[in-house]
Amino acid sequence: MTGKQRVLILGATGQTGKSILDALVAEPQFFEVEALVRPSSADKPKVKNLTSQGVSKVHVIDISGPIDELVRVMTGVDVFISGIDAMSQLAQLQLVRAAKQAGVKRFVPCAFITIAPPGESWPSATACKEEVYQEIWRQFLPYTIIDVGYWHQISFPTLPSGRVDYAAVLRPKIEIHEGGTAPNMLVDLRDIGRFVAHIIKDPRTLNRFVAAYGDVLSENEIFSVMEEVSGEKIVERKYISADEIMAARIEAAARAKADPDNWLAQTPLFQADYKYNKYVRGDNTPAYAKYLGYLDARELYPDFTPISFKDFAKELLEGGVEMPYRERFEQLQRARGK
Ligand SMILES: NC(=O)c1ccc[n+]([C@@H]2O[C@H](COP(=O)([O-])OP(=O)(O)OC[C@H]3O[C@@H](n4cnc5c(N)ncnc54)[C@H](OP(=O)(O)O)[C@@H]3O)[C@@H](O)[C@H]2O)c1
Repeated sequence: MTGKQRVLILGATGQTGKSILDALVAEPQFFEVEALVRPSSADKPKVKNLTSQGVSKVHVIDISGPIDELVRVMTGVDVFISGIDAMSQLAQLQLVRAAKQAGVKRFVPCAFITIAPPGESWPSATACKEEVYQEIWRQFLPYTIIDVGYWHQISFPTLPSGRVDYAAVLRPKIEIHEGGTAPNMLVDLRDIGRFVAHIIKDPRTLNRFVAAYGDVLSENEIFSVMEEVSGEKIVERKYISADEIMAARIEAAARAKADPDNWLAQTPLFQADYKYNKYVRGDNTPAYAKYLGYLDARELYPDFTPISFKDFAKELLEGGVEMPYRERFEQLQRARGK
């Protein structure tokens, strides 16, 4: 790769997008970073702060509006990266078409999940993501699809002392699924951007799927790491069988179907699908990713050492971890009068 790449990020204020933003602005010699923001968010403090975080230009635009506007904004962009939330995946369809018209050199759609086979095994999130991939292929648009496993930040169990509750999205979180033996790819949310920075500089990853992860651990191993690092025993554990996962998934699918625009109704389905994927099918492994044709980012970038789950756990115990979705979580608590 020669020269600086002009990168446009959609979703730079979100969890995944911010990780990507942080990593790219840390390498100003390689990247000039711009952000695409929807009009309803333009006045929010986190959008106002983008410039001070190193974003050179903020484009306020409705991604469902006229395509010509999107083509104008994307013209001259080398890499477009989407970190749009799980419920809004299909909004990327028009972005794909605009990117093609604008001559974007690499489109990175919002994948960033666990490894799963194509098709219907995981209807809630991947089906929409796959529709976007198919549009990319129809358009003959250069792309890279990056999957990352499951975040460390939502993989740790809570402790009897309550010491890690400050960063836990679910409390208590003491479930062990289908015996807890299935190995799973894990990643520190902060490393997603660091992987992306390597991947988009690399011609070997053009028009390829890439698996980028920091660790591979089973739930039993995750619990053992937490016990070792904390010195506490997680005596109370809730064992969930494959049958219970399947039953919960059917129930969550019915609720999600009845209330398609409500993220509170959709989130349990995403969670149920992840459990099916990770613990019933056991898909989320580097070996299965390779079988599906993914490049392995650990092999591509042997000099980059991602954050292991154990190092994450130590930081967690020291109080240094950010709770993901804190703002949304606090809004929900307030709405529930807590
Ligand atoms: N691997 C894992 O463990 C894991 C965990 C969670 C999520 N994920 C995946 O990560 C992906 C990203 O999710 P996330 O949770 O990081 O996202 P998020 O935190 O919910 O953020 C979504 C971002 O998209 C922006 N956005 C949404 N609709 C938009 C629109 N119409 N126009 C412009 N911007 C829009 C939001 O902007 P505003 O500021 O305007 O709202 C926000 O910046 C998802 O596809 C999900 O499948 C993976």
